[in-house]
Amino acid sequence: MVARAYTVAFQGVEARLVEVQCAISAGLPAFNLVGLPDKAVTEAKERVRAAMTAMGLALPAKRITVNLSPADLPKEGSHFDLPIALAVLAAMEVAPRDAIERNVALGELSLDGSLVPVIGALPAAVAAAEADCGLICPAPCGPEAAWVGAVQVIAPKSLLALVNHFTGRAALAPAQPGLAPPGVAPRDLADVKGQEKAKRALEIAAAGRHHLLMVGPPGSGKSMLAARMPGILPPLEPAEALETSMIHSLAGLLAEGGISRERPFRTPHHTASMAAIVGGGKGAKPGEISLAHHGVLFLDELPEFPRAVLETLRQPIETGDVVVARANAHVRYPCRFMLLAAANPCRCGHLADAARACARSPDCGADYLGRISGPLMDRFDLRVEAPQVAVEDLAEAAPGEPSAAVAARVARARETQRTRYADIPGVSVNADAEGDLLDAVAETTEDARRLLSDVARKFGLSARGYHRVIRVARTIADLEDSAPVERRHVAEAVGYRLAF
Ligand SMILES: Nc1ncnc2c1ncn2[C@@H]1O[C@H](COP(=O)(O)OP(=O)(O)OP(=O)(O)O)[C@@H](O)[C@H]1O
Ligand SMILES: [Mg+2]
Repeated sequence: MVARAYTVAFQGVEARLVEVQCAISAGLPAFNLVGLPDKAVTEAKERVRAAMTAMGLALPAKRITVNLSPADLPKEGSHFDLPIALAVLAAMEVAPRDAIERNVALGELSLDGSLVPVIGALPAAVAAAEADCGLICPAPCGPEAAWVGAVQVIAPKSLLALVNHFTGRAALAPAQPGLAPPGVAPRDLADVKGQEKAKRALEIAAAGRHHLLMVGPPGSGKSMLAARMPGILPPLEPAEALETSMIHSLAGLLAEGGISRERPFRTPHHTASMAAIVGGGKGAKPGEISLAHHGVLFLDELPEFPRAVLETLRQPIETGDVVVARANAHVRYPCRFMLLAAANPCRCGHLADAARACARSPDCGADYLGRISGPLMDRFDLRVEAPQVAVEDLAEAAPGEPSAAVAARVARARETQRTRYADIPGVSVNADAEGDLLDAVAETTEDARRLLSDVARKFGLSARGYHRVIRVARTIADLEDSAPVERRHVAEAVGYRLAF
């Protein structure tokens, strides 16, 4: 008779249920694994055999066949060890078949029978809850999987502990949800002297999730300002935290066990590969843009990024998801992030300073920022200059406003937006509003409308540019708690759009 265990195969953040069937029949001793396993899955045989030996069990000297169904779904990763072992144990009548069939299991076995943590416990738990099953995963993955709530999570340290649990010798308590240890506290905006305009842009970007580009000479504080963005963003909503953590789980970034309410702040270097930034490569892993889902993607020294990478970002920025192609499937990852970028005005960095600019000015500035294509530049709703702060100002300037005060205004503006978009799926901030919805929520005064159409005509704004100005103006009005969008809100928004 065939014994069954269940596990999952990952396709993006989706975990698809896989049935592991095991039949033991008379014949020459053999252990066969079929059903499109990759190399790591094929090697599971050896680890299962060794883990059984460590428990004092020998595989029967018969023909053991394990099938992973559906057979056409590729099976990748090391998490198939545990379900294969469970199916074999059930077929050997060592563990009760009905109890094993009621669970989705994932985990890697080491040769001594202990369970090694694997990626993806959180999406696997979501799939288990949908299938009305429990979840079995290695002990370190338990706190992460338990967040799903609707599923009973058993997180043993070893295969032996699990067998003892099933046979009633030593029952294991269900795993409890864990909280990630708090990260390092974000630094405070008060440390940044001057740069009032850039700080204001940072606040507007945080309030409405708009994309922001800062341009300024070396050492003016651009990287410093960007590093303070996490400190003014509100914490993730519970549903957002779950979505973000599913992606982090697949990337193996929830090693500490718990899920976090802190918004992701990802800072890939400009030498990072396309696969690292966009996703893909071996196993079609999520890239930095997906790891930044519901958070911030900070690209420091934007013009230094390879052109191909920058151009690839255009579509995900617009749609909020990315399709990663792989040999036999397409995998979709969400990536709704705020793009924050910093750049020098030119290669030497001192374009604005006649005394220090190089001989090639102003052409070198046009060449350098020209590496950012028009369509990508068009996606930055907010563009600000961060000029050099004079040394005497640095010493004398009073400390600026602390992050906490800015964060409070941002939180209030986000609350206004949440109430406004409560009934509209997929929209939570002004940056998400489009078309008719945008027209409906941005009740512009007569004055404001006139200014908008004047600017659009005079500067030849693209349709996207026009809508982006309205969105930013809506956010500026929200920061002031103003129901209509007034002329001064539009004027400020236009100023950021046309800075360069
Ligand atoms: N406005 C400022 N207020 C206080 N300190 C500042 C300011 N600007 C720069 N500094 C000091 O200079 C250092 C360098 O700043 P930062 O790295 O942010 O510059 P940057 O604009 O990113 O330069 P680059 O273009 O070279 O990357 C900071 O760590 C800080 O000590
Ligand atoms: Mg910098």
